[in-house]
Amino acid sequence: MAGIAPQTRRIAVVTSGNSRGSNLRAIHDAFRNGAYPVEIALCIVTKRSAPIVTLCQDKGIPVEFISSKDLSTFETKLRSLLDEYQIDLIALAGFLKKLSISFIRDLTIPILNIHPALLPRYGGEGMYGIKVHEAVFSAREKRSGATVHYVNRDYDSGRVVLQEAIDITDCTSPQDIAAKVLKVEHHIYAKAILKVLKIH
Ligand code: GAR
Repeated sequence: MAGIAPQTRRIAVVTSGNSRGSNLRAIHDAFRNGAYPVEIALCIVTKRSAPIVTLCQDKGIPVEFISSKDLSTFETKLRSLLDEYQIDLIALAGFLKKLSISFIRDLTIPILNIHPALLPRYGGEGMYGIKVHEAVFSAREKRSGATVHYVNRDYDSGRVVLQEAIDITDCTSPQDIAAKVLKVEHHIYAKAILKVLKIH
């Protein structure tokens, strides 16, 4: 007798106006062949002209725009879209605003974020993108990496889901570190999502 196919789990990737979408692409690539019952069912953008919109259109991923100028309105609209699209997990990718405590507390689905460093080091308010790698480079660190963590009330301080470190002694600039760490990000985000959804 054939087994019952597991229900496909639906992810929303929440991005900012400037997101390149490289993590969205990596997550999509990891799940598109159907090896796991997971799909990106929604991408949220905070700017209609965000470069990621074209990428989503190419991949057939539904995109919804919500302005993030007013956080309370943003969260109300996001909550309603999460219901409408029947989302099981939120993956922040380059979304830099701090979600409110009440939004996080009332949501019954996990919210994950990816950070381009080995948290708890090099995290916190204002630490994003190249700024993180500049700090790591200035401190002459030998290792960096990426962290996927649950989102909580403070920046970059939620429980770690997955972290992977790499040697950066061959990097001669923050940009070098950024490029090397980005490969790690692309490798761990889908793995972290599977871990949280308990799909093996
Ligand atoms: C990623 O490098 C992610 O780690 C970073 O934004 C980038 C989004 O890139 N997030 C932070 O720095 C959060 N503090 P992407 O649009 O190519 O996925």
